[in-house]
Amino acid sequence: MRIRPLKATELHAMRSVWERAGLPYRPRGRDSMQNLRKQLKENPECFLGAFKSGQMVGAVIVSDDGRKGWVNRLAVVPQARGHGIAKRLIAEAERILRRRGRRLHCVLIESYNKDSMELFEDAGYTREDDILYFTKRELKSY
Ligand SMILES: CC(C)(COP(=O)(O)OP(=O)(O)OC[C@H]1O[C@@H](n2cnc3c(N)ncnc32)[C@H](O)[C@@H]1OP(=O)(O)O)[C@@H](O)C(=O)NCCC(=O)NCCS
Repeated sequence: MRIRPLKATELHAMRSVWERAGLPYRPRGRDSMQNLRKQLKENPECFLGAFKSGQMVGAVIVSDDGRKGWVNRLAVVPQARGHGIAKRLIAEAERILRRRGRRLHCVLIESYNKDSMELFEDAGYTREDDILYFTKRELKSY
């Protein structure tokens, strides 16, 4: 299994990994092809794919808000689960963020997603029960 940065031509395959993994995403909002291409161009190292026999089986998007590092849209296709691929993607995301000077890594997990909570706790993340997430959307599709 190999983890490497994705090319712009692989963004459709990344979305296919999300779909096969059952990961909710926003195809008309921040995950539109136009937005993804722009993000990849601005931060080419931040889109990572995990490949097995040349096929993408997992992916993650790393982002850095200048204060904290974020692990986003992590997914592994069902056939490749349980082999530590997500854990390796998280470790690679953290390595990129560390290189950029980030020492606090964060992830938002929906309350139903117990598997993901177990994964991140296993990877050393602490659950912050006293924090609630608030958003204000300026664009309807976001
Ligand atoms: C969550 C997900 C990324 C895990 O991928 P994975 O490659 O199977 O995970 P790993 O093999 O690296 O798991 C590492 C550890 O995480 C925990 N873990 C992962 N999946 C788990 C599950 N289904 N139930 C319980 N614990 C789990 C375990 O502690 C596991 O260690 P172990 O194998 O020694 O028990 C994958 O199930 C997925 O794509 N789910 C749908 C999309 C999603 O929810 N993404 C996260 C958004 S925040």
